[in-house]
Amino acid sequence: NEMAPISREERVEKLKGLGCSRKRVEDVRFTQGKGNYVDDLKLPGMLHGDFVRSPYAHARVKSVDKSAALALPGVVAVLTAEDLAPLNLHWMPTLAGDKQMVLADGKVLFQGQEVAFVVASDRYVAADAVDLVVVDYEELPVVTDPFKALQPDAPVLREDLQGRTSGAHGDRRHHNHIFLWEAGDKAATDEVIASADVVAEEMVYYHRTHPCPLETCGCVASMDTVNGKLTVHGTFQAPHVVRTVASLLSGIEEHKIRVISPDIGGGFGNKVGVYPGYVCSIVASIVTGRPVKWIEDRMENLTATAFARDYWMKGKIAATKDGRITGLSCHVTADHGAFDACADPSKFPAGFFHICTGSYDIPVAHVGVDGVYTNKAPGGVAYRCSFRVTEAAYFIERMIEVLAIELGMDAAELRAKNFIRKEQFPYHSALGWEYDSGDYHTAWDKALKAVGYADLRKEQAERVEAFRRGETRKLIGIGLTHFTEIVGAGPVKNCDILGMGMFDSCEIRIHPTGSAVARLGTISQGQGHATTFAQILASEIGLPADSITVEEGDTDTAPYGLGTYGSRSTPVAGAATAMAGRKIRAKAQMIAAYLLEVHDGDLEWDVDRFVVKGAPERFKTMKEIAFASYNQAIPGVEPGLEAVSYYDPPNMTYPFGAYVCVMEIDVDTGVHEIRQFYALDDCGTRINPMVIEGQVHGGLTEALAIAMGQEIAYDEIGNVKTGTLMDFFLPTAWETPHYTTDFTETPSPHHPIGAKGVGESPNVGGVPAFSNAVHDAFRPFGLRQSHMPHDHWRIWKIARDLGLHG
Ligand code: CDP
Repeated sequence: NEMAPISREERVEKLKGLGCSRKRVEDVRFTQGKGNYVDDLKLPGMLHGDFVRSPYAHARVKSVDKSAALALPGVVAVLTAEDLAPLNLHWMPTLAGDKQMVLADGKVLFQGQEVAFVVASDRYVAADAVDLVVVDYEELPVVTDPFKALQPDAPVLREDLQGRTSGAHGDRRHHNHIFLWEAGDKAATDEVIASADVVAEEMVYYHRTHPCPLETCGCVASMDTVNGKLTVHGTFQAPHVVRTVASLLSGIEEHKIRVISPDIGGGFGNKVGVYPGYVCSIVASIVTGRPVKWIEDRMENLTATAFARDYWMKGKIAATKDGRITGLSCHVTADHGAFDACADPSKFPAGFFHICTGSYDIPVAHVGVDGVYTNKAPGGVAYRCSFRVTEAAYFIERMIEVLAIELGMDAAELRAKNFIRKEQFPYHSALGWEYDSGDYHTAWDKALKAVGYADLRKEQAERVEAFRRGETRKLIGIGLTHFTEIVGAGPVKNCDILGMGMFDSCEIRIHPTGSAVARLGTISQGQGHATTFAQILASEIGLPADSITVEEGDTDTAPYGLGTYGSRSTPVAGAATAMAGRKIRAKAQMIAAYLLEVHDGDLEWDVDRFVVKGAPERFKTMKEIAFASYNQAIPGVEPGLEAVSYYDPPNMTYPFGAYVCVMEIDVDTGVHEIRQFYALDDCGTRINPMVIEGQVHGGLTEALAIAMGQEIAYDEIGNVKTGTLMDFFLPTAWETPHYTTDFTETPSPHHPIGAKGVGESPNVGGVPAFSNAVHDAFRPFGLRQSHMPHDHWRIWKIARDLGLHG
């Protein structure tokens, strides 16, 4: 037994387990420039790939002349669709059941589309060669508006699908139509709306934007032709899925493929899908027998890789005269771009959009989503949100505000009146979800009290009077949001990606001297998994988090997992970690019982040891047990201390939050100033409060960007107008306000440690809070709905349209 006895509190503290604001272990290398990113990788003989991309949004490709490029010294190959066709790799499947051109096959469908792949001895030669490839295009009419795309005489975009009346998600009713997906009871909803006291109707647009991670996408493919093994290092949010897809596409057996995600500089959904760059690099490496690196530049990332949102949401919300909501309907026109490459679980082509009844007890609802092709980049990824949840939250939180206007009611009161009550959980929503737990009224009251809501409303009203008297040109907006997230996809029975059930995994190996390595099927892109998953384990197995290494991202060593996106890591892999830890503890208990010569049942767990009940001086620490597991022959027990868990969650988790944004708006310039931002998050059991706060700060800043300026905008002939960071708004410290964070803690009843996800909550809840603040400032002057992003010009225009410029 240990020499100097320390108190129970000291032992708990030493573990740095659940609830500890442990400093992020990964930051030691990140803050010293010692991170290991894909572009840091330099392999002997490595070649570099670069794309010839289409300047046109819709054009026929009549010919590609690569002779001048091939003549440039250093150029090794120029691949086109013709070269890939014999391998059947000129098209590839998308995650959404559609297919996508790897290289232009006869035509191009969006600006920036990949036409040819140049492989050269260095990055600069490759770039020069790109300019030497001569492509003869014939321009075709362009459609960037999804409503125009569905008109009878709209040009046919996907000629490869011509005549197909059904697709991966059912019937297609037009040549540019992809699917209609529905949830809820249409007849009952229509009936409630037709006979309601009050109905508010609005078109809510959530514009197209982009995750824009600091590090762009890229990979290094390396075919070892001697051993027949392909290794791909890449910026992958789901390395195991990439391995499976690579095996299916290439025909190389899966055990001969190793996919490694090294450090990743932010993903936010952008790095979930499979891009032509990966396929071309792999093919080029197989063909040349040399490693091939492909790294996007910023413009390529913004214009050609997965966008997010672009949802036109037409809503109707019905209520009684005193503000009790009776029904909700929503019809979405979803612009998917040229290929349906949305990253959603297979059965949900509109993701989890049908969480759009939000935090409210709405008896009947119906949702219909029409997916549409246009001449824009493919994608539709969950940009820091769980599969269209941010669209859903924005929709319902705008509809609530519009209903409040219709009713002449305070929007905070309207929300409180309709929240799902604490005693209603587990709550079955009208659109088919089972919310696991929540206490919305407590969170809401805490938030309103924290910001001094009643006083703020008084100040706002006084400001409006002063404005009307001509004494000020600044208005105050109070942006309210109460959001409910749905994260942790997901039960395998409902959720799969390309047929693979969305479980996740953790494998733990305890070393003889009482330290451990844990490997997970997820992959951190900055979320701090190495820090927090060790904390879950520390509490479960009683070894200090500092003695536990967490590894992710190498398919040769990590157990199969579905990866990190949709805030699923904590709900799914975090649960697997706790369960694997419990298996370790169960075996440890048998070993301790043997060593202490008592029955298993005579022992109880105490922080970091098993103690004989009623005899506190008789115990074995986990460290002692670890050593014994390797050096004592214990009858009936195998040596070693290892466990693996593949966890299939019984349900998703439903984090929620209450946000308030107070904004001052200058009517004459459209300039805004965020005076206060209060964010209360409830993510169940909190693993690391400091990491949570960091996640919330980052997510709120992305929400600020999206609501107030960030967009991927196109002109009418399909040119991307915001393809550089000169035009695409990325907030810096200058634009970022101070955030006040707060919490309540309502554990998930089905998660082993009660934790829900949190990474995406601030993006989901933040966008409506910022946007509602802008709307709220102009509510006294008659504004109902104005589309995001609310940049200075658009805010100025609201004021002008309302006649406030005099
Ligand atoms: O899947 P992803 O990592 O993006 O999202 P997440 O599961 O919400 O986790 C983000 C980070 O917050 C991780 O480091 C989690 O361990 C941490 N977290 C926490 O400390 N407590 C929670 N209840 C949820 C997440």
